Amino acid sequence: MSTITDHQTSAGCSLETLLEFMTHSPEETQALGSSLVHLLQPPCVVLLRGELGSGKTTLAKGIVVGLGAAREEDVTSPSFTLVHEYRQGDHCVYHADLYRVEGSREIETLGLEELMAARATVLIEWGDKLGPELPVPRIEIELTHLGGDERRIVVRRAMPAAGTEKR
Ligand SMILES: Nc1ncnc2c1ncn2[C@@H]1O[C@H](COP(=O)(O)OP(=O)(O)O)[C@@H](O)[C@H]1O
Ligand SMILES: [Mg+2]
Repeated sequence: MSTITDHQTSAGCSLETLLEFMTHSPEETQALGSSLVHLLQPPCVVLLRGELGSGKTTLAKGIVVGLGAAREEDVTSPSFTLVHEYRQGDHCVYHADLYRVEGSREIETLGLEELMAARATVLIEWGDKLGPELPVPRIEIELTHLGGDERRIVVRRAMPAAGTEKR
């Protein structure tokens, strides 16, 4: 694990690497998700990036449970419903999966903009489909399948690049 190792700039925002991990089982990835919640004070948008099977949903489950928004057994993949809402007391988490969404018109019907404006934690798989609509600041978590049960998980913070206004 390392802290603040590099800075990159992409699409008008600056990406700062906060943390890097390797996990070796789904349980470890889920526990990691729960341990990251201190970084996710709402309102907060979290982009989960990585190929199919890299562990995005597994990590999201850990985040939802760690935030106290639902029990483990109640968190499932939103790949068919597109957006799941978890609410418990003060905690509200939306978990979206845009894998099956095609075109900007369909994305608009999801009302993600309102969700992202709410005082909630919004977890988004395949969020790159939103293009420039992604809010900054946000957290990006990149998962890489390294073969077998091994995954590399990198947590970055996207901030407005110097000279650009906060959206
Ligand atoms: N270290 C690991 N972290 C997360 N998932 C793992 C790991 N090792 C194996 N897996 C398996 O990989 C799959 C990840 O699925 P999922 O979380 O749905 O991925 P995604 O949402 O990125 O498509 C699950 O079947 C899980 O059991
Ligand atoms: Mg998934």
